[in-house]
Amino acid sequence: MREKVIVINRLEDEVLDRLKEHHDVKVFLNLASYNDPEFLNELKDASGIIGLDYQVNADLLDNAPKLRIVSNVSVGYNNLDIEELSKRGILATNTPGVLTDTVADVIFGILIATARRIPELDHYVKSGQWKGNLTADYYGVDVHHKTVGIIGMGEIGQAIGHRAHHGFHMNVLYHNRSKKPEAEKILNATYCELDELLGQADYVVLMTPLTKETERMIGEREFKLMKKTAIFINGSRGKTIVESDLVKALENGEIAAAGLDVFEKEPTDEDNPLLKMPNVVTLPHIGSSTYETELKMSHLACDNMLAGLSGEKPPTLIDESVWNDR
Ligand code: GLV
Repeated sequence: MREKVIVINRLEDEVLDRLKEHHDVKVFLNLASYNDPEFLNELKDASGIIGLDYQVNADLLDNAPKLRIVSNVSVGYNNLDIEELSKRGILATNTPGVLTDTVADVIFGILIATARRIPELDHYVKSGQWKGNLTADYYGVDVHHKTVGIIGMGEIGQAIGHRAHHGFHMNVLYHNRSKKPEAEKILNATYCELDELLGQADYVVLMTPLTKETERMIGEREFKLMKKTAIFINGSRGKTIVESDLVKALENGEIAAAGLDVFEKEPTDEDNPLLKMPNVVTLPHIGSSTYETELKMSHLACDNMLAGLSGEKPPTLIDESVWNDR
């Protein structure tokens, strides 16, 4: 049976075509408000929502009485109120696995870029400032054989650890809700309490999902515990740190530099002081965004949607209990 599916923000044409073969699709790009009358009208009889960068909460669900599945084109799902969805028996899915190596590549890339000051030196060359021998003012610090502390040792954290250990001979420390014996064996990784990791790591890499427990987990106290030479990398979500405390830590020289793929507010404001700091390397939340991987994520999100609507178990359900309790 054809049902109505709302697509929010993005889905590649070939994936849209797959959806359209089976269902009636309504696309909303850059939706300014969830009170948009056209959106609310479509929501009334929508069975599914699929897309990126949208918020699902009780208010939205109250306007979507027929909704059976919400499919995220991302691995993170802090945009979804999972408790509320599960309470209402609505399936929720994300796209783990297919993006693991792509995200690990770019997070390791920003780590190297920050340590070796690549964007700053790129600007130095292109702006014609390179006139003679370089002095120590332009040197970076080594990555190889240093200690990396990974907070959040899920699939992506482990893939970063893999690059660190096997590619760069780094010593890997990690902090996670549960210990990861596989990582300890394959990466020679050592489990640490958070404070111990912060005190020992040359590179602190934050990869934890954003939850009630991890929100603002890295702030003034945690930056003070890091080495003065530490480089902080955030590849999780902007709200897992206190951004104003990161600014202070950098201004006061409590840490050396930062590489950020994510911000408290996205897009971040032009006057964010972090954007003026030469020792901060930034990216526009683009960890999983290669052509190949975005397409794989969209297809997986579509697989989830098609399965859910046809009464089959979606391949990557977030809360399995909703399926088991049907
Ligand atoms: C990207 O941030 C994702 O959660 O997939």
